[in-house]
Amino acid sequence: MNPLGLARSIARDVLAGLKESRARFALLAAYPTAVIGRDVRVIGDASRIILGEGVAVFGPSSLVVTDGGGLTGSRLEIGAHTYVGEFANLRTAGTPITIGAHCLLAQNVTIVGSNHGTRAGTRIVDQPWSGDGVEVGDDVWIASNTIVVAGARIGSGAVIAANSVVRGVVPPNAIMAGSPARQVGERQAG
Ligand SMILES: CC(C)(COP(=O)(O)OP(=O)(O)OC[C@H]1O[C@@H](n2cnc3c(N)ncnc32)[C@H](O)[C@@H]1OP(=O)(O)O)[C@@H](O)C(=O)NCCC(=O)NCCS
Repeated sequence: MNPLGLARSIARDVLAGLKESRARFALLAAYPTAVIGRDVRVIGDASRIILGEGVAVFGPSSLVVTDGGGLTGSRLEIGAHTYVGEFANLRTAGTPITIGAHCLLAQNVTIVGSNHGTRAGTRIVDQPWSGDGVEVGDDVWIASNTIVVAGARIGSGAVIAANSVVRGVVPPNAIMAGSPARQVGERQAG
């Protein structure tokens, strides 16, 4: 083992951990009514995260607001009293992600605002990202293991069943399921 190499990797790791802790504390200081679990990783510029009153994010989860792939518009907004369950992976990836108020995100929900380029003949990792983020209305329930991809616009009141992959426009109050998610019902009054 190369002791210098080991020391460098430990230093890099400690620095990355310190940066994430600082970002999480910045968020807690800016939003004193928020609950941000101790094992929530806040990666990137915390000032690009906007939280409503009483937002709760449980860990382990990641809130990632880094730009890249030529996109510079990272912003994550979570509305008042929205609950984000464990193992959430909310990644702006250079775009805005807006989640409304009084939403329930269950466990292991991923929301990503952009995609890698996939043209043949160039390595994917070298291609620019594309996408215009994700919008989720108010009072939306996104059940466990769901992935919401770039460009999705989920109307207020919608229900997304477990294990769904959501793309495109979801009408208000629709019940969606599957991969890709299709409408399987509509919320009824009562
Ligand atoms: C969305 C959900 C609430 C619907 O429950 P429900 O109203 O009882 O609906 P049903 O079971 O009658 O299903 C209605 C239709 O949707 C389909 N469906 C429901 N959930 C589905 C899923 N996750 N994937 C694919 N299809 C699904 C059913 O097969 C059924 O189709 P059919 O009419 O062709 O038979 C429930 O399926 C679900 O996903 N719950 C999430 C649980 C969870 O993740 N909890 C985490 C803690 S918050």
